[in-house]
Amino acid sequence: MSAVAGKRIVLGVSGGIAAYKAVEVCRRLMDGGAHVLPVLTRGATRFVGRATFDALASEPVRMSLFDEDDPIPHTTLGQTADCVVVAPATARVIGAYAAGISSDLLTATLLATRAPVVICPAMHTEMWEHPAVAANVATLIQRGVHVVGPEAGLLAGGDEGLGRLSSPGDIVAALGRILAQAANPPSETPDMVGLSVVITAGGTREPMDPIRYIGNRSSGKQGHAFADEAASRGAEVTIVTTVGRSGPPGATVVRVDTAAEMAAATTAAAADADMVIMAAAVADFRPVDPVGVKLKKRDGVPDVELEPTPDILAALGASKPEGQILVGFAAETCDVAANATAKLSGKGADYIVANDVTAENAGFAGDTNEVVVLASDGRMLPIGLRSKRDVARAVLDLVLADRKRRDGRQDPSSGGQEHSRYVSNTVSQEIQ
Ligand code: CTP
Repeated sequence: MSAVAGKRIVLGVSGGIAAYKAVEVCRRLMDGGAHVLPVLTRGATRFVGRATFDALASEPVRMSLFDEDDPIPHTTLGQTADCVVVAPATARVIGAYAAGISSDLLTATLLATRAPVVICPAMHTEMWEHPAVAANVATLIQRGVHVVGPEAGLLAGGDEGLGRLSSPGDIVAALGRILAQAANPPSETPDMVGLSVVITAGGTREPMDPIRYIGNRSSGKQGHAFADEAASRGAEVTIVTTVGRSGPPGATVVRVDTAAEMAAATTAAAADADMVIMAAAVADFRPVDPVGVKLKKRDGVPDVELEPTPDILAALGASKPEGQILVGFAAETCDVAANATAKLSGKGADYIVANDVTAENAGFAGDTNEVVVLASDGRMLPIGLRSKRDVARAVLDLVLADRKRRDGRQDPSSGGQEHSRYVSNTVSQEIQ
């Protein structure tokens, strides 16, 4: 899925000959599934017609602070945008933005947003290199504004040099990276730098024939939330997933379908990992002999023989390298604590994250979860209802705190008292 999909993107177009390329930027953003809101300056309309953007974008062109139905179009645009991109950005727009002057709808919107802003300058080399423009651009960069381009090449009037608008492809690619980064900001506590983490996500599908499969309702959201959280804390992440989603920036994503594929990919990646998190719902049974052609209704109810799939978590638990942390999950519909306790010891995991998948607002499809973490030393720690990302954060907080204490204990210079105090304080307390 494109990183711009579903994002509200204000496309500011100011008055330069490169304005015609903004039409292509608009079209590419629309193709990527973005919601594009074009804002043109009066100067822009000397180079491109507003009808072009009216026809291509998600909403009609806006140009004025005063002629719109909305009495405050700049704040509405600024507050609801996921990103504002200005392509081309003229020296005037850059200067007004840097100086905090709102002389039209576009500059007012730039000042009224807290979303990421991307400016794509285009002007003649002499203007780009003028100390005033250079200082304005430096000010904007210092304030966190992203600047894409300009490039060297052919300019208006047959001149050549630095100042040409970046290509629409490069602009849209940069926007995708910036939006992905904004969705997954680096953690304030990068406490997983140097740790490699393997995470599984989604539900495996075991084919009966080329069309049908045995599967489950897992959405992969909890596993992907672990990947996002671990990556934002600096971990080197490998996500083995059945879900067609991109991973966090920098992660290795391995797409699999079946339990056997997940077993092979996870076992290979886990060999050198510091932590393995088995969040996937792995099918327990698969058809022994999936047929190569569609099973036909006219042939009656198929007699599908099933066999167990490999238990990936149990295999990892049985061959766990020294120091590796193994986190399993338990999806239960009743007797959560008892079933999860059995899985903890039965599979050789250090932690089991257990949840009642039938509970309201918890389980597979939603964006929230409510779990209990069982640790191999007998602690049982509830994590109350919260977003899946926050569940991931709380579990990793716990695991990393334990790891730090364990490493501290191995260091003879630090006493073991802190650990026992922590255990007695946290049993049955909710993790914040
Ligand atoms: N798991 C696994 N391989 C399997 C089945 C499960 O690695 N073939 C892992 C899951 O990723 C999860 C844990 O084992 O981390 C528990 O999965 P769950 O479906 O809750 O339990 P099962 O082992 O399938 O046992 P049961 O069906 O009895 O609940």
